[in-house]
Amino acid sequence: MNITIIGCGIMGSGLAKQLSTHHTLFLYDHRPEKAKRLQQEGYGTACENLYEALQQSDSVILAIKPKNLKEVTSLINTDLTHYTLISLLAGTPLAKLKQDFPHQRIIRMMPNLAMIYGEGLIGLATDDPLTEAEKKQFSTLFEPLGKVYWLPEAKMNAFTALAGSGPAFVFAIIESMIDAGIGMGFNAQDAQELVHQMIMGSLHLLDKSAKHPGELKWQVASPEGTTIAGLKKLEELALRGSIINIFFAAYERANELSHS
Ligand SMILES: NC(=O)c1ccc[n+]([C@@H]2O[C@H](COP(=O)([O-])OP(=O)(O)OC[C@H]3O[C@@H](n4cnc5c(N)ncnc54)[C@H](OP(=O)(O)O)[C@@H]3O)[C@@H](O)[C@H]2O)c1
Repeated sequence: MNITIIGCGIMGSGLAKQLSTHHTLFLYDHRPEKAKRLQQEGYGTACENLYEALQQSDSVILAIKPKNLKEVTSLINTDLTHYTLISLLAGTPLAKLKQDFPHQRIIRMMPNLAMIYGEGLIGLATDDPLTEAEKKQFSTLFEPLGKVYWLPEAKMNAFTALAGSGPAFVFAIIESMIDAGIGMGFNAQDAQELVHQMIMGSLHLLDKSAKHPGELKWQVASPEGTTIAGLKKLEELALRGSIINIFFAAYERANELSHS
């Protein structure tokens, strides 16, 4: 497939790195040096002429921030309507994109940062009538980035909070665990290694045992032991409710953006 990526920041460059092995990529950023750097690294061709790139493209991926949509709309709203527009813009509904690009077939895409190592979650939504074969084609296109899910658009903001923002919350929690390790006398590097392996091991247990997390938690907590003392404090601090509220704050913000 021929694909133009507009916006060569964190997500645009991650997409370029993953997709360039199987597809022809044209890269565009309003700071041309970013696209050129990706070209030098072998991840596609920096666009000299965006219109020519659009002419040759089957799909165009918008990897810019929602606040930059207006500038890009005027750039790519041409007589060309043959390509599928794929938008990464958080909280920007299909209806809003349809107003700006009335003649395009449009897919909303919500990846998360882990896609840069092929371990992401990729949510896709459209209200255009795609055949099952066409959906399969886009699933196959994005499978190198991680697990692909087609969703009704009504679920996209929830997916954004859970999958898109989720890694930032996980990193903040991991960082606080490392701080706890440092507080108990490990140096930062050792604390990070210990926490990293503890988390990897816990995920492995969840994955391989296929047990409910509550059941595994009880396997760790022995009567009157250290773990149950920590779990008691976790409940006193309402950590679980706080985590639910953190995800809901991201969800509500995505809803707000959708209505602005
Ligand atoms: N980061 C994540 O984990 C994540 C997860 C899911 C979805 N998303 C979505 O992905 C999109 C991109 O996010 P990001 O984190 O990759 O942002 P980013 O790192 O800021 O990348 C956006 C790139 O687009 C450039 N740009 C701005 N205006 C432009 C224009 N008019 N024409 C061409 N290029 C332009 C930016 O340049 P400047 O630096 O000069 O502005 C920057 O290089 C956002 O809509 C976000 O909601 C991000």
